[in-house]
Amino acid sequence: MRRANEQEKKKIFPSDFQWGVATSAFQLEGSPHADWTTWDPLLGKKNPCITDHYRLFREDLKLLKELGVNAYRFSLEWSRIQPRMDTWDEEAIAHYQEIIDILRRDNIEPMVTLHHFTHPRWFMERRPWHRTASIEQFLRYTEMMVSTLKGVRYWITFNEPYVILLGGYLEGCTPPGLQDPPRSLAALKNIFTCHGKAYDIIHRYVPDAQVSIAHNMSVFAPWKKWNPLDRLLKKTANYFYNHSVINAFKTGIFIVKFPFSRTIEIEVPIKDKIDFFGVNYYTRIHLRFNPFKKMGVELRHVDIDGHGLTNLGWEIHPRGLAKVLRYASRLNVPLIITENGIATHDPEEKVKYMKRHVDVVERCLKEGLDIKGYYYWTLIDNYEWLQGFDARFGLYRVDFDTFERSPTHAATYYAYLIQSRSELLRVL
Ligand code: GAL
Repeated sequence: MRRANEQEKKKIFPSDFQWGVATSAFQLEGSPHADWTTWDPLLGKKNPCITDHYRLFREDLKLLKELGVNAYRFSLEWSRIQPRMDTWDEEAIAHYQEIIDILRRDNIEPMVTLHHFTHPRWFMERRPWHRTASIEQFLRYTEMMVSTLKGVRYWITFNEPYVILLGGYLEGCTPPGLQDPPRSLAALKNIFTCHGKAYDIIHRYVPDAQVSIAHNMSVFAPWKKWNPLDRLLKKTANYFYNHSVINAFKTGIFIVKFPFSRTIEIEVPIKDKIDFFGVNYYTRIHLRFNPFKKMGVELRHVDIDGHGLTNLGWEIHPRGLAKVLRYASRLNVPLIITENGIATHDPEEKVKYMKRHVDVVERCLKEGLDIKGYYYWTLIDNYEWLQGFDARFGLYRVDFDTFERSPTHAATYYAYLIQSRSELLRVL
């Protein structure tokens, strides 16, 4: 009998597992009306349409077929859709509907991100996130999209809300360029309020919708384990970055807790307003106490596992993916890896990165974690925000002068990986 059992076979990746790639609109197509376009002088001068995806999207969507993915995460460029406060651009809306229709025709599940870092310029000038008027404005846009676009079940309201706060309200390196902790808390409350209300709006129009945010999770480690200050930084960062969001979805309370300062509790209407949890994972960060740095924190990337650093200098740490997924599983909702990828000019590095991370996903599935999908970041090379045009995350290489796309070995490998992992039968 035992022998018979051994013959039983089981798929590790369920047959409905989402094998996808993720993109964001602005990083592929730019926009004449977005706050980022004027924020980054590089875009105005060099390359406002970035990869020219807005024009070439049909060709780019064919690449999804070539890869054999069954899911595609992309975002709507709000500033194209609502270029002025009182104007909805029908053509832009039809453009995004066409993307959805093509995906549906090709049996590729669309996952739509409503907000991926960029805004219409008027929004940031007149209704920035720290003002409560931002809420109504974002919800109007949400309702317009959800009531108009047909064929979407998977919605991401916000991509990486913390990045908006850290970059826009604490570091001041992204729009609106503030360094203002009280306003960052107001912005955070408004963004989470938007998520909670958008969740209800989406479900009103799409009863079987699956809604989440895409949260960037990282692994943190003390620079020196023996140093209590480094350890304290690690604990604080982990609490803030990984724990506080998960806790807010469980309890409706967002807790800000930094050493030597008073704990702040903010009520946010997001308790249980999540159907799955989107995890963006890239790296591990070592933290070192350094009194000469802002808030005494120095971030370091070191190649400890021997997997190397990416072109952006980030540590490649596949095991960390398991750590953050286990942590996220406390939410008791299915998990989807909504982004994972590497910036490198070397496609072989991309192949290794992808394989190692997918192996980790496989181990987590065996462990019993409820993981429903893996989206590689990203389809074609794009504009990597503050890092410009040279980060090269794409499975397909883009020549930014001619806009020509060419497959890298990583594209061929991803196609193979999808095939082999979804068909391979394993002996129990
Ligand atoms: C994520 C972000 C993406 C992309 C990626 C690679 O944090 O959502 O837009 O830039 O990082 O750095």
